[in-house]
Amino acid sequence: MKNFTSIHDIPNVEQLVQQAFDFKNNPLSQSEIGKGKTLGMVFFNPSLRTRMSTQKAAQNLGMNIISLNVNDGWQIEFEDEVIMNGNKAEHIKEAAAVISQFVNVLAVRSFPTLIDREKDYQDFILQKFIQYASVPILSLESAILHPLQSLADFLTIKENQKTKHPKVVLTWAPHPKVLPQVVANSFCEWMNFADVDLTITHPKGYELSPDFSKNATIEYNQNKAFKNADFVYAKNWSSFNYYGKILSQDESWKISSEKMALTNNGKFMHCLPVRRNVVVDDSVLDGPNSLVIEQANNRTFATQSVLFDLLKNKKNEL
Ligand code: CP
Repeated sequence: MKNFTSIHDIPNVEQLVQQAFDFKNNPLSQSEIGKGKTLGMVFFNPSLRTRMSTQKAAQNLGMNIISLNVNDGWQIEFEDEVIMNGNKAEHIKEAAAVISQFVNVLAVRSFPTLIDREKDYQDFILQKFIQYASVPILSLESAILHPLQSLADFLTIKENQKTKHPKVVLTWAPHPKVLPQVVANSFCEWMNFADVDLTITHPKGYELSPDFSKNATIEYNQNKAFKNADFVYAKNWSSFNYYGKILSQDESWKISSEKMALTNNGKFMHCLPVRRNVVVDDSVLDGPNSLVIEQANNRTFATQSVLFDLLKNKKNEL
């Protein structure tokens, strides 16, 4: 694996997943492979889980970590042939090339603008890092995908599924802020690969890009969608078609115990952070079927498995 930006970069998903479970059983089994190597982490946006789980994964492999918060008074220019007489003091060409001299793998978190759909869906910032860095790039969430979150979600479903072909429901939930489609897109990609029956439920106008929803069942009636679900994955996203717009804040879409009672004793999932009693009721989040803490725990082993493959690839050596 040269870079990790989506499920499509993984040559053998089942092998990578088994490796993640092996790391969960024995996190320090490969603590020599990263000795003398450095993981660089560049954050354009804040993070709790991604930052800490990635750092933990790298430490488990023996790596050092250098972390940088961008936009704290230091801004990068990404456009080519621009006259840089504004507030951006450094171009991505130099920044990526210089950072590449200090690190062996470069992890990048960059959210979408939610204004310019074309640019966002080109994954502009991540692709510029891939273009100008000379080390492997690891996506810590980009403008369109959050692949490490989805890999952790995939592991969590595998650990908790009771049937061979579970029903998985991805449900939109209300939120006061404009949020990306990233987690939903990425979850769909992984569920398209998984042996599951995927239903997506949301109010009209919240359809995801068909590139990600693919053949999933779309159900506009949330109660109907929840029937017999084995897993309910809740997430808010803003509209893709009316790009970046909030079309509804309908509280009746909040996940409640009454709604979960329609499921097949279904497990509740969310990537976190989550707004209690806006997205989901306390009773669900604190209930016995909530997997949210386990999902966050699996972030470490998902990332460790991916980092291990990036380090193992001799072509990635400086
Ligand atoms: N789920 C997730 O990516 O959390 P953070 O934003 O805290 O990293």
